[in-house]
Amino acid sequence: MKKIIFDTDPGIDDAMALLLAHASQEIEVIGITTTFGNASIENTTRNALFLKQRFGMRAEVAKGVDTPLDHVKTEPATLVHGENGLGDIVIPDHVNAELSPLVAHDYIIEKIKEQPGEITLVAVGRLTNLALAIQKDPEIGKLVKEVIIMGGAFGHNGHTGNLTPFAEANVYGDPLAADIVINADWPVTIVGLDVTQQTLMSNAYLEKVRSHSTKYGEFIYDITRFYAQFYSDDLGLDGFYVHDSSAIMYLVAPEIFTTKQGQIRVITEGPAKGHTLYKSSDRVFPIDEWATSPKQTIAINVESQTFNQRYFDIICGN
Ligand code: BDR
Ligand code: CA
Repeated sequence: MKKIIFDTDPGIDDAMALLLAHASQEIEVIGITTTFGNASIENTTRNALFLKQRFGMRAEVAKGVDTPLDHVKTEPATLVHGENGLGDIVIPDHVNAELSPLVAHDYIIEKIKEQPGEITLVAVGRLTNLALAIQKDPEIGKLVKEVIIMGGAFGHNGHTGNLTPFAEANVYGDPLAADIVINADWPVTIVGLDVTQQTLMSNAYLEKVRSHSTKYGEFIYDITRFYAQFYSDDLGLDGFYVHDSSAIMYLVAPEIFTTKQGQIRVITEGPAKGHTLYKSSDRVFPIDEWATSPKQTIAINVESQTFNQRYFDIICGN
């Protein structure tokens, strides 16, 4: 069983990824830590509690902070995820489920120390909570199993950005945190737009999920109507790209991804804010801000048909 803490801003694709993890026989979600982004921290935390209650999850929920490290706040992505963050399906304003007394980054530190070598952090939102955790207690770097991030874009398959021409939304939303997390002394795999925009779930595929999964089908179909409309209006797509579920799929089926290793820095201000830059050569240049970075892993290709089949099989309980 792979134990994870899922750091997330639910978010429609976040919810789909969480359900994939919950449905997988190979993953145990021990905690859900919330971050801001797709909606306010109040709404993403309420949504996490709602998902926990609605699907009977045992995971604890710990609320994160509401401000990026550089204090430059961006508006919640309501155009993509709806006002409530879950595609404006009807959900209660408040959910009567217990919240951890610990703030997200302290929760992460405590759990990793309790179970050394056991926990994988899967982060699919701004990286603020992870950055605060590793800054406060760098020792957790050696105790975590691995860190898997949905974020960034390195230009493979022509994908360089989605919020700006050269930045992916999660990294843009807290670029300082991303640079800290990627350059910390722990093993990181980045599943960025390079691969998440290779997989498309069409509306026909979602209808199939709807009719084949008694437990999750109707819910997934309902929350994705808003998301699919955004992708249709914005990019003329039938369906949508598969961002956050790609991070969970990497944990379940790493063999369908191609990866490579290199040193990575994040541009933290200016027109290219949020741009992730990867250096593969071992040459040390006269001026080299990459030279002391650890080598981390990035995903550059995915077998997207197998991906959709695996998602279907897990969600539909095959
Ligand atoms: C990422 O941004 C958010 O809107 C999604 O949930 C995903 O994590 C994609 O750029
Ligand atoms: Ca997300």
